[in-house]
Amino acid sequence: MEPCSSIFICCLTSFCGSFSGYAGLFGRIGEAWQPIQSFLKISSATSALAVKGESPVAQVPACVSVEFRDVEFGYRPVEPVLDRLSLFVEGARKVGFVGRTDCGKSTLLKLVERLYDAQSGSVFVGGKDVRQWPLRQLQRICTCLSQNGGVFFSEATLLDTIRFAKPAASFLEVVQAATLACIHDEIMALQDGYQSRAGEHGKNLSGGQRQRVAIAQALLSLQDPEKKVVLLDECTSNLDPETEASILRNIWPLLDGKTVIVVTHRFEAVEDLVDEVVAIQECRAARPIPLDRTALAASAFPAGC
Ligand SMILES: Nc1ncnc2c1ncn2[C@@H]1O[C@H](COP(=O)(O)OP(=O)(O)O)[C@@H](O)[C@H]1O
Ligand SMILES: [Mg+2]
Repeated sequence: MEPCSSIFICCLTSFCGSFSGYAGLFGRIGEAWQPIQSFLKISSATSALAVKGESPVAQVPACVSVEFRDVEFGYRPVEPVLDRLSLFVEGARKVGFVGRTDCGKSTLLKLVERLYDAQSGSVFVGGKDVRQWPLRQLQRICTCLSQNGGVFFSEATLLDTIRFAKPAASFLEVVQAATLACIHDEIMALQDGYQSRAGEHGKNLSGGQRQRVAIAQALLSLQDPEKKVVLLDECTSNLDPETEASILRNIWPLLDGKTVIVVTHRFEAVEDLVDEVVAIQECRAARPIPLDRTALAASAFPAGC
């Protein structure tokens, strides 16, 4: 199934709206810039259509809950991924999702951001059906960082890459974010330091470095007080357990008061941080089972799931 086209256009225009604001930061983007500009023109022309009819900006509660109610979803009609799944995550709570590969964890997070809509049932953010939120506002409230997350441009320096979400961030703020993401020392060891180029899709960086730059980028975006829901989808999967633990420990205080759903294959990395663990069971009929830590250790999940 393809994402609903208007949603898709809206996502693109929301992204591109930000991008055009940040473009000056990236200096000469070279030959790639021309097609990007054309694309932005087309996108901004369609954005008026995409947001037409959206309800006015809604009041955001101080703590934003996330609820899945009887959600049925499949990418293809005959292959359900979520089967009447219901789950309530209280505002400001930190919840870990565990479950076997392909059981639908990432899909659940995509429904929160409205990259897809449930075929039946509903997803609520802050008690409001996600379909009732103005899309841009929903995507400002919710940040998802996945394992291939981060925004990289071939000509952008690491400094500008990290401050992509907050163009006005000072050098010191960037260094602080990079330090929390455990990437500052490695950046400083590069010949050009923060002036090094990440390359297209971050190709000049290792998988682990890309993830840490993406985390630093996300950390700056978290300073926006409107960020209320943070979805971490295996965003440290390329890192060794010690580095993963350090980063999570570093960033956790910044998540105070925010609702956090963290998906990780290494449960040990989050067990001391989360308030609750939810096991997403069975590949095709995902059902959440809240487990306490002792029960989880004794559960049928194989180690690492
Ligand atoms: N864009 C997509 N198109 C079609 N099928 C998909 C897509 N994304 C995921 N799937 C399928 O949906 C199921 C759940 O995937 P996912 O939510 O990524 O699982 P998890 O994150 O738990 O590993 C898997 O069978 C996967 O192959
Ligand atoms: Mg996944």
